[in-house]
Amino acid sequence: MAEQLIKKVDEAIDYVNKADGGAEEKKEEVELLSAKGYKDQTFAKLVTKIDDKKTNESQIPLLGLGTWLSKPGKVAAAVEYALKIGYRHIDAAAIYQNEKEVGAGIKAALDAGIKREDIFITSKLWNTKHAEKDVVPALKKTLADLGLDYIDLYLIHWPLTLKAGDDLFPKTEDGKMDYGRIVPHEETWKGMEECVKLGLTKHIGLSNFTEAQIDNVLKNCTIRPTVLQCEGHPYLAQTALREYCEKNQIVLEAYSPLGNPTRPAGWDHSLKRVFDIEELKKMAEELKVTVADVCIRYQLDRKVVVIPKSVTPSRIKSNFEVWGFKLNKDQIGRIEKLNVNQRYGIPTVVNDEGKRVIRDGGHPFWPWKDTKYGNL
Ligand SMILES: NC(=O)c1ccc[n+]([C@@H]2O[C@H](COP(=O)([O-])OP(=O)(O)OC[C@H]3O[C@@H](n4cnc5c(N)ncnc54)[C@H](OP(=O)(O)O)[C@@H]3O)[C@@H](O)[C@H]2O)c1
Repeated sequence: MAEQLIKKVDEAIDYVNKADGGAEEKKEEVELLSAKGYKDQTFAKLVTKIDDKKTNESQIPLLGLGTWLSKPGKVAAAVEYALKIGYRHIDAAAIYQNEKEVGAGIKAALDAGIKREDIFITSKLWNTKHAEKDVVPALKKTLADLGLDYIDLYLIHWPLTLKAGDDLFPKTEDGKMDYGRIVPHEETWKGMEECVKLGLTKHIGLSNFTEAQIDNVLKNCTIRPTVLQCEGHPYLAQTALREYCEKNQIVLEAYSPLGNPTRPAGWDHSLKRVFDIEELKKMAEELKVTVADVCIRYQLDRKVVVIPKSVTPSRIKSNFEVWGFKLNKDQIGRIEKLNVNQRYGIPTVVNDEGKRVIRDGGHPFWPWKDTKYGNL
């Protein structure tokens, strides 16, 4: 089974590389802020009121670089290159297990003349650190790994809790995920608020939370979440969630905006790919851009933050150079019609009957009980 999954991942990587003519490239001297349209990039305002005396305000760049699955030995160069050419926003997480390398990339860019205050760094609290007392130490560890004094945004990565400790994926004796104590979100949020008060992060937010789960945080917080990061691409428009966020002054971020064409082992590889959607290919041809450009522009033109991941310099650059065109209402409407509420970012397992099922569907905080997942 493991071998089959590894083969599928290798095939997926091959597929993406062939589609783009190969991913390996040499590191070259990079001219600072040389990406086309760098000055035209757009931002959203984040306001975090800490108390009557102190408010943090930031401009979150609407386009950032993702770092999940960025392989060892590649992500430092990718982050350095991105920041040097003009990206202002890096999306990281403790669970990606590459924050030291991400930090090395940030340091190299800062050493080359990019200013810390001009860039926006996000990280995320992992599921094993939801107990209030574990939140500040988890962020301090992230800061040490990134080599930074503060980050701009810290998110609760998932509503799900896993057993506290240093094992990132704790299992019970029968091999199932060990959820440990189910920590209420109100408790974790207190730890998040403490991170802001200590100046370790300027803003806090949520990821993969449902509207009801966000409502609960809003009801119990003293410092509001400013951002929600969720999966978003042409097969998952998130229209209702976007409206909900707008109503609650929460900035929405779309992850896996290209439909994550290289999903890891344990994910379902039989799902139809965003890159294969004929309507998107047609639109890309009309606009003389790539399908990836259309997917990125789709989010930007709906004022949704978008964080495509790449470790390939030519893709890092082309994914950023999307400031020279816009999608009009009609084109956005055509993309919106493609929505099938399809999620890719869900860990699955094959059960004893040989059926692929959602791994954490039984967790009391599982967020998407009512959402279609592929062909399950
Ligand atoms: N909060 C969460 O739970 C969560 C979950 C998933 C992701 N995220 C964040 O969102 C980021 C983006 O999502 P993702 O990594 O899942 O998927 P994605 O950005 O949709 O896709 C990344 C994949 O697309 C390839 N790619 C990038 N640009 C391309 C282009 N122009 N043409 C062809 N292929 C291209 C990349 O290959 P190469 O790297 O080989 O170039 C990589 O394999 C993550 O890295 C992470 O930071 C957050």
